[in-house]
Amino acid sequence: MGILSGKKGLITGVLNEHSLAWHVAKLAQAEGATVVLTNTPAAIRLGTVAELAQAHGMPLLAADATQVEEIRALYRETHKLIGGPADFLLHAIGMSPNLRKKRTYGALNYADYQKTLDISAVSFHKMLQVAEEESFLAAYGSVVALSYIAAQRTFPFYGDMADAKALLESIARGYGYRLGKSLKVRVNTVSQSPTQTTAGAGIGDVTDMMGYADRLSPLGNAPAEDCARFVITLFSDYTRFLTMQNIYHDGGYSSTGMTPDHS
Ligand code: NAI
Repeated sequence: MGILSGKKGLITGVLNEHSLAWHVAKLAQAEGATVVLTNTPAAIRLGTVAELAQAHGMPLLAADATQVEEIRALYRETHKLIGGPADFLLHAIGMSPNLRKKRTYGALNYADYQKTLDISAVSFHKMLQVAEEESFLAAYGSVVALSYIAAQRTFPFYGDMADAKALLESIARGYGYRLGKSLKVRVNTVSQSPTQTTAGAGIGDVTDMMGYADRLSPLGNAPAEDCARFVITLFSDYTRFLTMQNIYHDGGYSSTGMTPDHS
C-alpha cells in the first residue's frame, strides 16, 4: 500500500527526466497514485516528456498554463481520464525571458517582465480559478506549487523570477483560504534548494550559487528526489490540516546565518 493509494492527480512542468515535476510524478505513481501529465505543445515537442509518459503509462495532455481556455479543456479531459475530481495538483512552472536574455533587474524589458509573471505566477491563479469553476478538485485535495527563497530575500542573479515567486506564494495563501473554506482543499508552496534542471540552469552563476547554498546548509542542498518525497507527503492524507504555508525544503539553508563555510 502506497501513501497515495487510490489518489488521482495532475502534474504540470515535466520537461525531461531532470525536472522536479518528473521526480514527483514517478514517486506519486510508485506510491499508488494515478498521474496525468501536462505541458505546453512546445515543451512536449522539445523535451522528453512524451517518451517518459509513454514508458510509465501516464496520459499526457498539451496545454499552455497561461491560457484560461486551454486550462479548462485540460481539466475536462483530465476528469474524463481519471473518472472524477482530482486529489492533487502540482504547479511546477517557471520561465523568465529576461533571465534567458541575461537582463539584470535594473534593465528589465517590461513586456518580458509581464511574461515572467504570467508564466511563473499568474498561471497558478488561472489554474486555481478554473479549478474552482470546473470543480476540478476533490474535497480534502492538495495543491502544491514550487517556489524559491528569492521570494523573501534578494538574490540578484534571480532577476524578475524573485518577483514571480513572491506573487506565487501570495496566490497560494489567497487560494488556500478560499479552497480551504469551500472544499477543505489545502494549498502550499515548497521552497526548494537550487537544483540542476533545465529551469535551474537558466539562472546566472548557477554552479557558484548551488555550491554556496550547499556549503551553507547543514544538510546540504535538498536533491530533486527528496523534493519529490516531501511533495508526496503533502499530497497524502498525513498533512490534511497543513495549508497556506511556504515550506522551506532546503537542507536548513533558510535558517542558517554566518558560518565558517560561507565562502
Ligand atoms: P524545468 O525546466 O524542468 O520545469 C519548468 C517547466 O515549466 C517546464 O516543463 C516548462 O515546459 C514549463 N512551462 C514553461 N512555460 C509554461 C507554460 N506557459 N505552461 C505550462 N508549462 C510551462 O525546471 P524545474 O527546475 O523542474 O522547475 C519546476 C519549478 O520548480 C519551477 O517553478 C521552478 O521555478 C521551481 N524551482 C526550481 C528550482 C531549481 O533550482 N531548479 C529551485 C526552486 C524552485
